[in-house]
Amino acid sequence: MRILAIESSCDETAAAVVEMSDTVRAVHSSVVASQVDVHALYGGVVPEIASRAHIEAIHGVVDRALREASLTMEEIDTVGVTYAPGLIGSLLVGVSFAKGLAFTYKKPLVPVNHIKGHAAAAYLVNKELQAPFCALVVSGGHTSLYDVRTPTSFVEIGGTRDDAAGEAFDKVGRVMGLPYPGGAAMDRLAAQGFANGRGEMFSFPSPAVPDDTFDYSFSGLKTAVINQMHTIRQKLGLSDNESLPEDIREGIAASFTRVVTEGICQKLRCAVRETGIRDLVLAGGVAANSHLRAAVSQTAEELSVRLTVPPLSLCGDNAVMIGAQAYFEALNGNFADSSLNAYASDENAAFV
Ligand code: KG4
Ligand code: ZN
Repeated sequence: MRILAIESSCDETAAAVVEMSDTVRAVHSSVVASQVDVHALYGGVVPEIASRAHIEAIHGVVDRALREASLTMEEIDTVGVTYAPGLIGSLLVGVSFAKGLAFTYKKPLVPVNHIKGHAAAAYLVNKELQAPFCALVVSGGHTSLYDVRTPTSFVEIGGTRDDAAGEAFDKVGRVMGLPYPGGAAMDRLAAQGFANGRGEMFSFPSPAVPDDTFDYSFSGLKTAVINQMHTIRQKLGLSDNESLPEDIREGIAASFTRVVTEGICQKLRCAVRETGIRDLVLAGGVAANSHLRAAVSQTAEELSVRLTVPPLSLCGDNAVMIGAQAYFEALNGNFADSSLNAYASDENAAFV
């Protein structure tokens, strides 16, 4: 099945052509137009600007994905599109465009949940991967553990009770004066901190909720890190536009990253033991974090479970992952007609 997939849930306009069958899992093209530079001026995503940027980019992005795949719309079997969760104005652009394409070329339309899509990136990396598996999706909006019973049936067994890990990375990075989005820059700063032995410089509260759930909470950790930075600034008599000393910046980034990673792995360990699942997938934008990738890989080894982690290009938002999930949704008969709507949150949009 040749799938043209479209993703526009946040600040990346993406399109891809993937080919999926019982024996084939191939990427023919993947185009991602990022709006990050525009939003960086404001220190975060501005929804109104994001929607307008999607409208401007989507035609060219889809056209390029088809050209790079050397295929025409007539040669595509199915159109897949992210319909939830995300910024509503952004989602509506992708959904409307996909509906137009599907209607014009008389192709089936498959709605895809963005979070399921993140996990589905793993199918393109590990061609043997099959449900059941456990998926840890760590992104700007989610930090969730799923028991993926079939390719389309995701049961959330743990999640964040407040902020997502990516949000915490971005907020701490912002207070530290790093460019938006802070995650990648925090990763680099933390790596220097670990290399200089500063991973234990500060102790912060764990994001693992101290009970027998598999839940996380990042808001207390985020506040503790920000308070720590304010206290140090006051002690050193620094003004608002003066930067913290480099050793302190490295120590904060490394200590924060260590605590996030340890907390995530602690619950992951419990979830894998309790479910007895033998395959683990790490996915989402924060899965690009070098320290998290190494720690989850070590945890998987300890537990003797097989781990699949997408390459960096398939961790952040992209349409390849949406195409992969669209295949399984289509196999399951999950098609939409032209009444398909977009939904900002998972709660309103049951996993179809
Ligand atoms: O999955 P994603 O691209 O978008 C959402 O669905 O939210 O995730 C974006 C998040 C941002 O918070 C970004 O800062 C974070 O992923 N991120 C990272 C790294 N690269 C991206 N966080 C930590 N370390 C990284 N290397
Ligand atoms: Zn995402």
